[in-house]
Amino acid sequence: MSVTLDTIDGLALVSLNRPEALNALSFAVLNELSAAFDEVAGTDARALVITGSGGKAFCAGADIKELMGRDLVAQRDGAELGQATFSKLDKLHIPSIAVVNGYAFGGGLELAMACTFRIATPNAKMGLPEIKLGLIPGYGGTQRLPRLVGQARALEIVLSGKSIDAAEAERIGLINRIVEGTDPVALGREFAAQFVRYSRCATLFAKEAIQRAAEVSLQDGLKVEADLSTLAFQTADAAEGMNAFVEKRKPVFKDQ
Ligand code: CAA
Repeated sequence: MSVTLDTIDGLALVSLNRPEALNALSFAVLNELSAAFDEVAGTDARALVITGSGGKAFCAGADIKELMGRDLVAQRDGAELGQATFSKLDKLHIPSIAVVNGYAFGGGLELAMACTFRIATPNAKMGLPEIKLGLIPGYGGTQRLPRLVGQARALEIVLSGKSIDAAEAERIGLINRIVEGTDPVALGREFAAQFVRYSRCATLFAKEAIQRAAEVSLQDGLKVEADLSTLAFQTADAAEGMNAFVEKRKPVFKDQ
């Protein structure tokens, strides 16, 4: 298996374990990732952390050797498999964190961009170099990158195929922050600690409302917010949170 799924202290951990190919996304790996995301969706994990093993790469993208010589129908099916797999990740009800501890290129950066958050070690290098292969990104990169960094920067990154370092990625908003350390799982857990104690219901509604902002008009987005904030208000966790404030104690959320 090139993808492992573990659970530690209420966190789901998905690891890419194909270091000999810098964790490149073969179709077998994509299928394993898809199954892992389905499994995570059925658990009560409070967040998902994704790491790449080997210490050199998060993921170097689609498996170029496997792509070669495929017919167009197979290529189209492959793009749809990658997109559908990453959409499953994007739509998980819990926040996800990609820990980029080295290279994240092509499909590897597209995987990271489908996560709710990206953190990176100082040595990380990111990019969508498909243009250098005569290709363009096919697992969501042309759509998620401009939503994260704006159209002008996305065009520069995709059309130049250039690699950007962690400092630049942080400056343009491609990653949330740079983190120092050698254990990617520990880095992911540390980042997740800031939100895993809150109600899963409120977390889901907030994530959903913000993700919808990129897809709809301001007026429609405000309606989504009104609906979701009203739903949040109806939860037992909201009653508990407000009671705890008034009673000057810590809330005990039950995800209800
Ligand atoms: N696919 C298949 N194998 C890959 C790979 C990939 N994307 N990236 C690295 N590998 C393999 C190499 O072939 C090599 O294997 P061998 O020893 O058997 O030859 C092994 O991993 C180690 O790689 P390098 O020797 O190249 O390591 P390096 O340190 O010299 O360079 C690198 C690292 C700069 C990341 C370089 O490997 C590289 O440029 N990789 C390709 C990055 C890329 O172009 N990604 C986009 C792929 S297309 C895509 O993702 C389309 C899409 O939108 C889905």
